Amino acid sequence: MTLKALTLAAVAIGTAALYAGNAGERNAGERTGAAAPVAPVADRAADTADTKALAAEAGALAKGYGGTLLGAVKSALETSGPVGAIAFCHDEAPGMAAEQSRRSGWRIARTSLKPRNPNAAPDDYERRVLEEFSRKIAAGAPVAGLSHAEIVETDGGRVFRFMAAIPTAAPCLTCHGSSLKPEVAAKIRELYPADRATGFSEGDMRGAFTLSKPL
Ligand code: HEC
Repeated sequence: MTLKALTLAAVAIGTAALYAGNAGERNAGERTGAAAPVAPVADRAADTADTKALAAEAGALAKGYGGTLLGAVKSALETSGPVGAIAFCHDEAPGMAAEQSRRSGWRIARTSLKPRNPNAAPDDYERRVLEEFSRKIAAGAPVAGLSHAEIVETDGGRVFRFMAAIPTAAPCLTCHGSSLKPEVAAKIRELYPADRATGFSEGDMRGAFTLSKPL
C-alpha cells in the first residue's frame, strides 16, 4: 500500500464525482417512480433545470465525502497499518457519513451489490441503478464516469436521488481484493462476519455513493 497509489485512487473517485456533475444532462426530467403508472411531467423544462442543479450539488458532496474518507483511510494506514485501518473504518466510517449528512441536509451513504457493512446493502432503487451500472461497464463504459440522477415519486412525496459509481483502485485490494493477508482477512471476519466485499480486481466497480434529498 503506497501513498502514491492511494492518491491515485482519490483522483479516480474525484473523477467519478466530477463526471457526476453532468448527470443531470443525461437523465434530466426522468420521473420513474416506485409506483406505476409514472406521473405525467407537467413542466419538463423546469424539472430539467432543477435536476441539473441538484445533480451538480450531489456530485460535489459525493466528491467531498469520498475525499474525506480516503484521507482518513490513508492516515489510519500510515499510523496503524491495514488491520488497524480496518478497525478505524469500522468505528468511524458510519459516523462520518452521518456527519456529512447532518451538515449537508442530504442523506449521504455508500452502497454496493457486495457490501461489507450490512447497512450498506442497496434498497430496491439502488440495486436497479447498480445493476444498470454493471451492464454499462460490461458493455465497455468506464466505471469512473458512471452516475445517475433522477426525481423519484414515492408515497412520501418527490425525492431527488443521485448515485455515482466508485471504482476499485490498486490500494483498495489490500482490504477488498482476492488474496488478503491472513491477519487482514481475520480482522474483517471478526468485525464483519457477513462480509461480501472481497474478490474485487482493479478497475471493478466497488460500489457507489448514494445521495438523496426530499423535494
Ligand atoms: C484498510 C482496509 C480498507 C481499505 C484499504 C479500503 N477499504 Fe473500503 N471498506 C473497508 C471497511 C472496513 C469497510 C466497512 C466500513 C463500514 O463499516 O461502514 C469498507 C467499506 C467500503 C465501502 C462501503 C460499502 C460496503 O461494502 O460496506 C466502499 C464503497 C468501499 N469500502 C470502497 C473502497 C475503495 C474504493 C477503496 C480504495 C480507494 C477502499 N474501500 C479501501 C476497508 C477498507
